[in-house]
Amino acid sequence: MDAPFSAKRRRFDTENGNKAHHRQGYVEEYPDREGSTSLIFALQEKVGALAEALKIFENHHVNLHHIESRPSKENLSLHEFYVSCDDTKGGLKEAIEELKLKTDELTVLSRNPSDKTDEGCCLNIGHGIKVPWFPRKINELDRFANQILSYGSELDANHPGFTDPVYRARRKEFADIAFHYKHGTAIPRVEYTEDEKKTWGTIFTELTKLYKTHACREFNHVFPILIDNCGYRADNIPQLQDISDFLKDCTGFTLRPVAGLLSSRDFLAGLAFRVFHSTQYIRHGSKPMYTPEPDVCHELLGHVPLFADPPFAQFSQEIGLASLGAPEEYIHKLATLYWFTVEFGLCRQEGQLKAYGAGLLSSFGELKYCLTDKPEKLPFDPAMTCVKEYPITSYQPVYYVANSFEDAKEKLELFAQTIPRPFTAWYNAYTQSVEVINSKEQVINLTKAIRGDLGLLEDAISKLK
Ligand SMILES: [Fe+2]
Repeated sequence: MDAPFSAKRRRFDTENGNKAHHRQGYVEEYPDREGSTSLIFALQEKVGALAEALKIFENHHVNLHHIESRPSKENLSLHEFYVSCDDTKGGLKEAIEELKLKTDELTVLSRNPSDKTDEGCCLNIGHGIKVPWFPRKINELDRFANQILSYGSELDANHPGFTDPVYRARRKEFADIAFHYKHGTAIPRVEYTEDEKKTWGTIFTELTKLYKTHACREFNHVFPILIDNCGYRADNIPQLQDISDFLKDCTGFTLRPVAGLLSSRDFLAGLAFRVFHSTQYIRHGSKPMYTPEPDVCHELLGHVPLFADPPFAQFSQEIGLASLGAPEEYIHKLATLYWFTVEFGLCRQEGQLKAYGAGLLSSFGELKYCLTDKPEKLPFDPAMTCVKEYPITSYQPVYYVANSFEDAKEKLELFAQTIPRPFTAWYNAYTQSVEVINSKEQVINLTKAIRGDLGLLEDAISKLK
C-alpha cells in the first residue's frame, strides 16, 4: 500500500501532532496480498444485514478471502466488518459503489498493486508496456473518491474531537460531500456554524499578524486579493467553490473536496492536472491552534494563496507530472520533495529567508520558529532532499531553501529526468488530459504543438527589437 498522504505526510499544527490513522484489533493486519483488496464497512445492527452486504459481492462475482466482524468501537448501533477480497476477477469497483449505498461507513484499506487492468493499478501505455495506473483525463480523478485510505469521519482516540458526537456527525457531513463529488460539478457550499467561524477567526487573526514579515513575497501579493475576492475575513470561512473559481482564473488550478486520506500516488496525480484535493471541515474548536490532520484552515491559509502564483503552480504541477506512472520508490521520493517544498519550503528573497510552505504558513508556532537560527537550513537540491528523513510529530530540524520557484522547478525537472519511466508525460491544457509521449509519431505531434508557441515567442522578441 502506498504511504498515506496523511498525518504521516501532512502535519499542520502548532503543537505536536499524532501518528497516522490506524485501526487495530483484526486478526488479519491488512497484508498487501497480491490480487487482494481490503475493506472495512459498518452496518446498522439488524438481522440479515451482513447477508445483504455479502450478496453484493456475490452479485458482482467478487470472491472473499477473509472476513471478520466486531461491534463498532465508535458507534454502538453499528457492527463493523473487515473483508479481504480477490480483485482480479469480478466487478469490485461496482460492488464498492453498491456497498456504499448500504453502509454507514466504508473504507478501502489497501489496493492491489498487481492488478493488470485499467480499473486497477496498471496502465497499458502501448507497445505492451505497463506502468502503475494513473489518470489520463481530469474526470478520472473521480476514481480516487473510492480509494481513500481512511474516511474523514473516523477519528483516532486521541483526536480532540473523538468524544464529541456533534463534531463527529459534522465530520461525516463533510466526508459525504466529498465522497459524492464528481468532476465538473459545483462544490456544495457549507453553512459554517458560529463555533466553527470562531475557530477560524482565532487562527486567521493570529497568522495574519505574521504574514508580512514571515511569508514570501508571492504569498503577500495574493493574500489581499483573496480578501477582496473570496471572502477571506476573520469572521468568515471562505467557500471552496469561490476559491476554486478564483484559482482557475489565476493559474488554472482548481480544488476538489476530499473525503479522507489519499495515497501519495493519487494525491500527487491530482497536481498533474492542477487539481488540489482540499479538506472542507475545520479542526475541533477545543484546540484552535492544533490539528493532527489537514483542515480547511491549513488548505485555505497555507496552500491556496500560492496556487494563484503562476511559477509556483507550475512547480506544483511538475511534481505531479513526474509522479505519473513512476515506480513506488520514486513516489516516495517525490512525496518527500513535496513535503520539503510545498509543505515546509523556505526561500530567499532580498537576502532574507521567507516561508512558502503551507505547513508553515498555517502554523503560528512553526512559522515563527522556522526563521530563527534553531533549525538547520540547506539549499534545495532534489537529489539530496528526496532521501531526507523527517519527523512528523515535531517542528522540522531542517528546512530546504529555494532561490526562487523557477529555480526549484528547473531543478525538479532535471530530477524528474532521472525517474526510470518508459515515457514522457505532457499535459494538454486544452483537453485537460495527460498525453503519453513514447513514440516517434507522438514526439512529432508534440513538436508541432510546441512549434506554434515558439513562433509566437519569435514574433514577440522581434517586436521588442
Ligand atoms: Fe498540505
